Amino acid sequence: MKKTDPHIIVIFGGSGDLTIRKLIPALFNLHCRGFLPSCFAILGLGRTPHTDESYREKAVVGNPHLLKNENADDKSIKDFGRHIYYHTMNSQSESDYGNLKDRLMDINEQCSTQENYVFYLSTPPSLYQSIASGLAKVALNHEDRGWKRLIVEKPFGYDLKSASALNAHLLTCFKEDQIYRIDHYLGKETVQNVLVTRFANSTFEPIWNRNYIHHVEITAAESVGVEKRGGYYESSGALRDMIQNHLLQLVALVAMEPPNLSSAAAIRDEKLKLFQSLRPLTVEEIRNNVIRGQYVGSRINGESFPGYREEEGVKSDSKTETYAALKFYIDNWRWADVPFYIRTGKKLPTRVTEIVVHFKPTPHRLFNYTNDHVNAGNTLVIRIQPNEGILLKFGVKIPGEGFRVTNTNMDFHYSQLVESYLPDAYERLLLDCIQGDATLYSRGDSVEAAWTFINPILNAWQEFDDIKVFGYPVGTWGPEHADQLIEGKNFTWRYPCKNLAGDGAYCEL
Ligand code: BG6
Repeated sequence: MKKTDPHIIVIFGGSGDLTIRKLIPALFNLHCRGFLPSCFAILGLGRTPHTDESYREKAVVGNPHLLKNENADDKSIKDFGRHIYYHTMNSQSESDYGNLKDRLMDINEQCSTQENYVFYLSTPPSLYQSIASGLAKVALNHEDRGWKRLIVEKPFGYDLKSASALNAHLLTCFKEDQIYRIDHYLGKETVQNVLVTRFANSTFEPIWNRNYIHHVEITAAESVGVEKRGGYYESSGALRDMIQNHLLQLVALVAMEPPNLSSAAAIRDEKLKLFQSLRPLTVEEIRNNVIRGQYVGSRINGESFPGYREEEGVKSDSKTETYAALKFYIDNWRWADVPFYIRTGKKLPTRVTEIVVHFKPTPHRLFNYTNDHVNAGNTLVIRIQPNEGILLKFGVKIPGEGFRVTNTNMDFHYSQLVESYLPDAYERLLLDCIQGDATLYSRGDSVEAAWTFINPILNAWQEFDDIKVFGYPVGTWGPEHADQLIEGKNFTWRYPCKNLAGDGAYCEL
């Protein structure tokens, strides 16, 4: 186990939704599982006035997201609660940072945390730059006594220009190795397992290229809509919210070259090279190969579901996309001419994220297949969530006369492992940052490279009114036009079910 130094986690946005829903429960779990040292503290910050006691009540004792944890008995809650503090401050007021520093010194003396601090920016992105400056002004970026790390939540920038400006600004306050840009998909066990599947087995990698792979498909579907986040989502949309970060990270892990080491630098270098190899889309390709959609109200089993434009905080003539699908290519030796298809959307039939690698069919057709689809080639499905696992679809002989072939499944489910606990992504990422391991965080250059690929799409959508936003009824798989993206006879998107091994229109959702 790596060494975990005494430390304080300082959370800007201490009473915000992310902190209460994700960060505090993740830290509680780490504490209960023995991953945090005895000398640690959590300091929530915000303008909302709280005492340490009232904050403990809100964030721990009365936190429904923490209470649903099976470890949440009275003793663990009380024990964890003793590490929690709160400090009221306005992060926009420079003069408040001196008091913050004093407060940190007090906690530091009380808890022997050796001036090791993680600053977590769980605030609206518009505050990131001033917080970084505020910390630097009072030397809370100096590492002469204790390390200082800054975790920056997504979205990292609104487009290439703003992401570059944010990077440039943060680098005037902190060094690159102090900055941890979070993408919670990288904290998912199953996402990390993509690297293990590829690079810990000798079976896959030799065929992981243009000679054997026909195309790659990645889906991140959600059944929820924008919930209470209409205001944020209006200025984001699916491309910024999911594709620029989470889906492109999955593309990088599936398509990057093997790193020479499993170190942060080596893995992040390969990811950067991959982002730099994404073939830029021309306006014509954006018209044809990028589909955007928005959910519209529908009735399912007699119940009405509102469309996106009826959601709270959304304009009645909004053109924000709640669905996006793309076809693109990677210009390098391994992937020349192999199409990649990615899609994401809200209010789709089920919640599922998976990577599907379609292998080429056999070069010569010897047998009779039960249908043409069976002969379309083997598929490997890497299921990120739910029903986490891996599925290989391959042909078998139907017993009896002749050689008739049908498709069957070979599947592995994480739940079969003895050690089957899958930690929440934030648990893993917070622990990595505390231990100084940036492997699962995005490096500045690679965030900018991902924006470089996405930016022309944003520009084209803004500039050309004739690029359509298609409606799709709540509970369907998105606009019909997205089906036409996939090239080749016998190929469509896989329509996944809740369970890894199922697909098709009539499965469990
Ligand atoms: C977030 C997006 O980054 O990821 C949300 O802002 C989205 O809109 C969420 O719902 C999906 O995450 P997960 O882990 O549920 O797939």
